[in-house]
Amino acid sequence: MRSSAAPRGTAEVEAESKHAATVDLRSDTVTRPTPAMRRAMAEAEVGDDVYGEDPTINRLEHSAAEIFGREAAIFVPTGTMGNQIAIKCHTRPGQEVICEARSHILDYEMAMMAHFSGCIARAVPGEDGILRWSDIKRKIRPKTYYVAQTGLVELENTHNMGGGTVYPTEVAEEICDGAHDAGLPVHLDGARVFNAAAALGKPVAEITRKFDSVMFCLSKGLAAPVGSLLVGSRKFVDQARVYRKALGGGMRQAGILAAAGLIALEEMPKRLHEDHANARWMAEELAKLRGIKLDAKKVATNIVVFNVAGTGKTSAEISRALAERGVLINGIDPENMRLVTHMDVDRAACGRALEALRQVCG
Ligand SMILES: Cc1ncc(COP(=O)(O)O)c(C=O)c1O
Repeated sequence: MRSSAAPRGTAEVEAESKHAATVDLRSDTVTRPTPAMRRAMAEAEVGDDVYGEDPTINRLEHSAAEIFGREAAIFVPTGTMGNQIAIKCHTRPGQEVICEARSHILDYEMAMMAHFSGCIARAVPGEDGILRWSDIKRKIRPKTYYVAQTGLVELENTHNMGGGTVYPTEVAEEICDGAHDAGLPVHLDGARVFNAAAALGKPVAEITRKFDSVMFCLSKGLAAPVGSLLVGSRKFVDQARVYRKALGGGMRQAGILAAAGLIALEEMPKRLHEDHANARWMAEELAKLRGIKLDAKKVATNIVVFNVAGTGKTSAEISRALAERGVLINGIDPENMRLVTHMDVDRAACGRALEALRQVCG
């Protein structure tokens, strides 16, 4: 439980103790801003960002561009908006976007690739969500006038539904090189790219240098309350700014959000290895439970996907029984569940969740 210097009322204390008692492993999006973030938000210097006059937003965008070794960056309210702006910038209506079959842009972004960019997904299944150049190469449409043309290749690192899996840098780079040789841009959905970097022990700039654009989130494991960034060339970001405004994402005194975002970007990546160690430990313990199937060795970051078919219960039944014991874990489908470790769940809380899982599944 984190402490705050500010005096708190009874309702806040009650809400906090409820939070403390509940072990919420549904997602790293549930992380709450740290006391330092809240202080920075209260004190943030702000201006009108649509006029480019918010000094804190400008600092955040500058810092993101520098950390990723790019010309420019733009703050967007959500990862979804960042990905969809990137797709719009890179494609023309009537084109195809090659992506992994369980990618976030396909399964969880409201068909916006069709709605906003006029494109369809060419979905390619990859083992644990990871694609190879040989998978992608075969799906690039021939350059003839009577088939829709491929406009973009998109990868996700870490891959959420693949179980937080990480692209080996050489695999991602081979894809970027192959796509570029074929005249195609490559966008990275790097919602959790800092987790990938922590797992690989390399800077984000190094593992993303060949991508044409990268979206990453401040509001997941990095614990900011809101916000994502899109990084790339100056020309790409200038175009992204137009589409952000078109989508209603031109915010005004958004420096209040950027103040928390700066702490998320510059301080929080350092602690992600703790979440990874907790996830690996939980995976190893889960693998010992009868009826649960997973390969703990594959758990490289903060996401654990496990199969519960052998317990004789559905994921919905397990979710409900866990919730009664103060543990929140969601099903992906009737047989598979996903848990996500993060800053607000320490080793002791992971132990409590495991105990509840033992009771429910055992
Ligand atoms: C891999 C991935 N990409 C993109 C997003 C979208 O982020 P947001 O919820 O901020 O729109 C998510 C959100 O969970 C995600 O997991």
